[in-house]
Amino acid sequence: MSGCRERKLSRPHTEWVPSGAGYFTSKFSISEESMKHISPTVIESFKSIAVYSGKPFTIADYGCADGGTSMPLMYACVEELRNLHGNELEIHINYEDRPENDYNSVFYYVQGLLPLSSSYLSDFPNVFVSATGTSFYEQCFPSDSVNLGFSCLAIQWLRKKPCNFTRAILHCFSEVPEERNMFAKQAEKDWEQFLLMRAKELAKGGRLALIIACTHGKETEGSVPALVIYKLLYNVWESMEKDKIISKKDMEEMTIPEYFRTREELVKPFLSDTSPVRNAGLNLVSMELKEFPLPEKAMWKITGNAKACARLMTEQTRAWSNSFFQSALSDHHSAEEKNSILDEFFYRLEEQFLLSPEDYMGVIWNAFMIIEKSRP
Ligand SMILES: C[S@@+](CC[C@H](N)C(=O)[O-])C[C@H]1O[C@@H](n2cnc3c(N)ncnc32)[C@H](O)[C@@H]1O
Repeated sequence: MSGCRERKLSRPHTEWVPSGAGYFTSKFSISEESMKHISPTVIESFKSIAVYSGKPFTIADYGCADGGTSMPLMYACVEELRNLHGNELEIHINYEDRPENDYNSVFYYVQGLLPLSSSYLSDFPNVFVSATGTSFYEQCFPSDSVNLGFSCLAIQWLRKKPCNFTRAILHCFSEVPEERNMFAKQAEKDWEQFLLMRAKELAKGGRLALIIACTHGKETEGSVPALVIYKLLYNVWESMEKDKIISKKDMEEMTIPEYFRTREELVKPFLSDTSPVRNAGLNLVSMELKEFPLPEKAMWKITGNAKACARLMTEQTRAWSNSFFQSALSDHHSAEEKNSILDEFFYRLEEQFLLSPEDYMGVIWNAFMIIEKSRP
């Protein structure tokens, strides 16, 4: 790197700790309110989910990240199963994510080795934990073995990006209709694939409880969709190209393989009696769309501290997006160089948040779906 670039890249930055420190959970609070919202429905579901004598009750958390964010929900699930079925029922909690996920932290949280409220493993007998690094677009667990499948804010990640966007990083900001279409088609295929794989894994009478980041179209008056952050991400990444910190190729590769589906797209696989998903035995029990303000909004209201809000927004954004930006960087950058580039990128992002934090304190829409596999 040139002297000029080195100087630019040695600024103070948000800390990034990839493995074993519970980084994701310590920085990412966007899913907290949504998990609280679905919790009573999940607990109520245990009255309906079939329990088979002599078999463990298996819960799977798809796209679990470091497992810390879902711990309160998993704790409540174990507690309710104990209330309903006593200590004899063996409970198996399975964590699922991509192979490069921070599984060290998953086990540290579960074993109570990282600070968190409480772990079900230390508080209840007869609970077993395992993890898999198989993509949720494949079959991750044996057939008919999962009684409750859960997933939060993960299914918007596609199997692959079907193309790169022209002057945008997220599908809804591309001005090229063919690009948006290719993403919509990929998202349709991937949603069906996700459901078909779960149909194999679910035991009869088992359920899926899904929280899915989606779009709604009509935000409450005066609120901005949180997706505007993706526009800023594009502008900041572009500023890095202008300053020759990243190459034209790094710029072009930065298309985020996420897709925020509409209500119609989410219910489509369940509409026809003869669809592959219905044929595989899955039925939609309930669906709700709900709006949540980003957590920074509450902090801003209470403290009005722009610096702290900009820092929180940057850390949250880095927690979910670091791997996307890292994978856009070509391998002519060394691993160390990639880290410095990302530090610089998130430093610049924080500067932009600081200029007008309120512009980015938007709302996210989540779909809450309960899906049942046909009963015996
Ligand atoms: C925004 S995080 C959500 C984490 C956690 N469920 C929560 O809501 O706090 C999305 C997670 O989905 C995972 N993910 C994305 N694509 C996946 C795939 N194909 N298979 C398994 N996990 C995936 C990511 O690695 C990431 O940990």
